[in-house]
Amino acid sequence: MNTATEPAPMAVTYITQPGRAKIQGSIRVPGDKSISHRSIMLGALADGTTEITGFLQGEDSLNTLRCFRAMGVEITEPVEGRVRVNGVGLHGLKAPAHPLYVGNSGTSMRLMAGILAGQSFDTVLEGDESLSRRPMKRVIDPLTQMGAVIESAEGGRSPLTIRGGQRLRAIEYTLPMASAQVKSCVLLAGLYAEGKTCVTEPAPTRDHTERMLTGFGYPVARDGSTACLDGGGQLIARQIDVPADISSAAFFMVAASIAPEADITLEHVGMNPTRTGVIDILKLMGADITLHNPREVGGEPVADVKIRSAKLRGIDIPEALVPLAIDEFPALFVAAACAEGRTVLTGAEELRVKESDRIAVMADGLNKLGVEATATPDGMIIQGKGANSQSFGSAEIWSQGDHRIAMSFAVAGLRSVGTITIHNCEFVETSFPGFADLFRHCGGGLVDQLVTGERA
Ligand code: S3P
Repeated sequence: MNTATEPAPMAVTYITQPGRAKIQGSIRVPGDKSISHRSIMLGALADGTTEITGFLQGEDSLNTLRCFRAMGVEITEPVEGRVRVNGVGLHGLKAPAHPLYVGNSGTSMRLMAGILAGQSFDTVLEGDESLSRRPMKRVIDPLTQMGAVIESAEGGRSPLTIRGGQRLRAIEYTLPMASAQVKSCVLLAGLYAEGKTCVTEPAPTRDHTERMLTGFGYPVARDGSTACLDGGGQLIARQIDVPADISSAAFFMVAASIAPEADITLEHVGMNPTRTGVIDILKLMGADITLHNPREVGGEPVADVKIRSAKLRGIDIPEALVPLAIDEFPALFVAAACAEGRTVLTGAEELRVKESDRIAVMADGLNKLGVEATATPDGMIIQGKGANSQSFGSAEIWSQGDHRIAMSFAVAGLRSVGTITIHNCEFVETSFPGFADLFRHCGGGLVDQLVTGERA
C-alpha cells in the first residue's frame, strides 16, 4: 500500500563483475544507524539545540527525522551529515496530522512506540511491507504492562495505533530475547512512567540508548545485566559526533579478507564493545585486522580499522558473540563460504525476524552460488570453499527487500567466476547510501542499474 509519504516505486539491480579485484584504499563509511536514530529522538525530547555531525543520511534514519518533524520538532535538512535539532522537551511533541511512516526501519518503530506510549495524543505507526511482517508483540507486551494502550494488526504486526493520555507506570522487565530495540523501547517509555523502570537482558546487546541518555544528562543506572532509570527527568541538548557504522564497515572487512592482495583502512569506525562481535569472529577465522588510533568521541569508542587479505578458516561461532554481531551475519556467511572448513552458527534465531529471514535467504543464495550451506532453525552450517581465488559460480539472487543481503552478495562477487545479479538493491539506501560507488572506489567490480516500476 502506497501512502502519501512512501517513496515512488523504483528498483535497483547490482551486477557483480568477475576479475581479480584488489580491495584497497582508505575510506569512511556512513554514520552509525543506531546512533543516528537515537540522536534525532533524544535531541527532539531534550531541552535546547542538539548539533549532530556524521548523521546517517539513509532512508531509515531520515524516516525517524521526518516523524519527529511531523510532531512539530524543528530539524534542519541534513547536509553532509550535519543536522540541528531544536528540542521541544519531554512533553513538547505535538499530535501529527497523519500516520507516522517509518519505511523499512524496525528501530524507528520499536523505539518510537516507547516514546509515543507516553504522549497525550494518539498516533499511528506504519512501515513498508517488510516491516509489516515483523513482530511487534515484543514491544506491545511490556508497554501494555506499563499501562499503554496499543492496537495492532493481526498477530501483533504493524500498523500500530498508540492511544495517548495513559498514565504509564514503571516496570521491572526481563527481556525474553536479546534485543536492544525492546530494551530501548521500555527505557524510553520509562522516561514517562512513574517510578523506576528496569530492564534486564539475557545477553549484552548494544547499549547506545543507555550511553546516549547519560550523555544527555539523564542518569541510567547499570547493575550487571540490568539498566534502570527514573521517570520524569529532563534531557539536556548536546553535540553528537556519530562514528562510522561498524555494521556498514563489516562489508569492507569481509571484502578485504576474501579478496586477493587487499589492504584497506576504514576510518573513524564505532568500536562500542556491544557491537564489535564481527571483528572478534573474523579474527577467530584468521582475518588480518588491526585497530589504530583508538579514541573516544562523545562517549563512544572509535578507531581506524585496517584489514588485509587472509586465509580464513571455518569455526564454531561462540554463541556469546551472536548479539554483538547480530547485523553482520549476512556478510559473515560470505566470509565462511570462502573459508577452509566448516563454520557453524547456533543461537541466532533472531536472524529469522530481521528485514528478511536472513538464515533462509542467505542459505538459499549461497546454495545458488554452489556453496553447501544448510539452514538450521537457529543458524547455519556452511562448508567453506577454501582459499581458491574464484570460489563461486554465477547466480541470480533476490535480496528480499533486505539491504544487508544485497550488499553481502555484492561482496561475494569478489570471489565469483561469473556475474552475480542481485535484484531489489534499492533497500541499500536504508543504511548505506553510496555503497556501490564506494565499493567501486575501493576496486570492487559492480554495476548498479536503475529499473523503474519494479520495486519489491
Ligand atoms: C538495533 C538493534 C538490533 C539491530 C538493529 C538495530 C538498534 O535489533 O538488529 O539493526 O538500533 O537498537 P534487535 O534489537 O531487534 O536485535
